[in-house]
Amino acid sequence: MDIKKVVTVYFSPTGTTKKAVSAFTRGMRLPVEEIDLTLPKKRKGFCRSFTQDELLIAALPVYAGRLPMYLDDFFDGLKGDSTTAVATVCYGNRDYDDAITELMMRLEKRNFIVKAAAAFIGQHNYSSKIATGRPDTGDMATIIDFGKRTIQSIASGTSGTLSFKGTYPFTAKGYDPATPGPNHPPILTGEECNGCGLCADTCPWGIIDHQDCKVIDSAKCFHCFHCVKICPVHAKKVTGEAWLDFLPAFEARLNAKRKEPELFLPG
Ligand SMILES: Cc1cc2nc3c(=O)[nH]c(=O)nc-3n(C[C@H](O)[C@H](O)[C@H](O)COP(=O)(O)O)c2cc1C
Repeated sequence: MDIKKVVTVYFSPTGTTKKAVSAFTRGMRLPVEEIDLTLPKKRKGFCRSFTQDELLIAALPVYAGRLPMYLDDFFDGLKGDSTTAVATVCYGNRDYDDAITELMMRLEKRNFIVKAAAAFIGQHNYSSKIATGRPDTGDMATIIDFGKRTIQSIASGTSGTLSFKGTYPFTAKGYDPATPGPNHPPILTGEECNGCGLCADTCPWGIIDHQDCKVIDSAKCFHCFHCVKICPVHAKKVTGEAWLDFLPAFEARLNAKRKEPELFLPG
């Protein structure tokens, strides 16, 4: 298969998925078109038809072992024509469970043929102490090399099944903000807030009020911490006894063993 162009389509609230996927394409040495669907206004009405000489690289983070929920607008606009694709996910050093399986199924439904897959590691949304700084220099070198090997595998027409972890029917439930667990208290806005509106303008879910950015629709909040990270005056925070009790043990559990990127090619 003669691929002429690589198109990355990604959703990345805190930037680690974006960083990993950009390293992946660097190894491919082909023209790259980048489509960032992190903002709801970019997803609204999104539609991209693909040809057979393009390669789609789809990239999303893992939320509770699955893809983030309520992203139909991400997938509905992808129109393949038996187009070759790579299914990539980025996770916070716990596990990716059924996420690659789900992504592969969603891409195949849109008429893509998945010829490679990968699970990268990214710093966890919840804490800068989990998988700190990842993907790091070592990850980036591994991912660039995998980009090279992926394009060679596709060019040489290597066939065979991809075998990665994951089951269907799915066993991982995914994260639904409508039914959050006890460890997900609402994001609060402190007195420091000066109403600049940056959080409302850049919330990946579009759930912060533009008139009063202290108002967050918590039933739709995924706790991606995008607003916590970008607030210029550090007004957005998660606090409370339950959270402060939960976090240290969670950090220790997830940091117990460094996971490495898992890369899947046929054969
Ligand atoms: C609601 C939620 C659930 C998550 N679930 C998992 C998980 O099941 N396994 C894991 O290893 N990381 C999990 N993470 C961490 C993210 O997958 C990880 O930090 C990812 O690199 C974030 O990507 P981004 O920087 O592109 O937003 C979760 C994060 C959030 C916000």
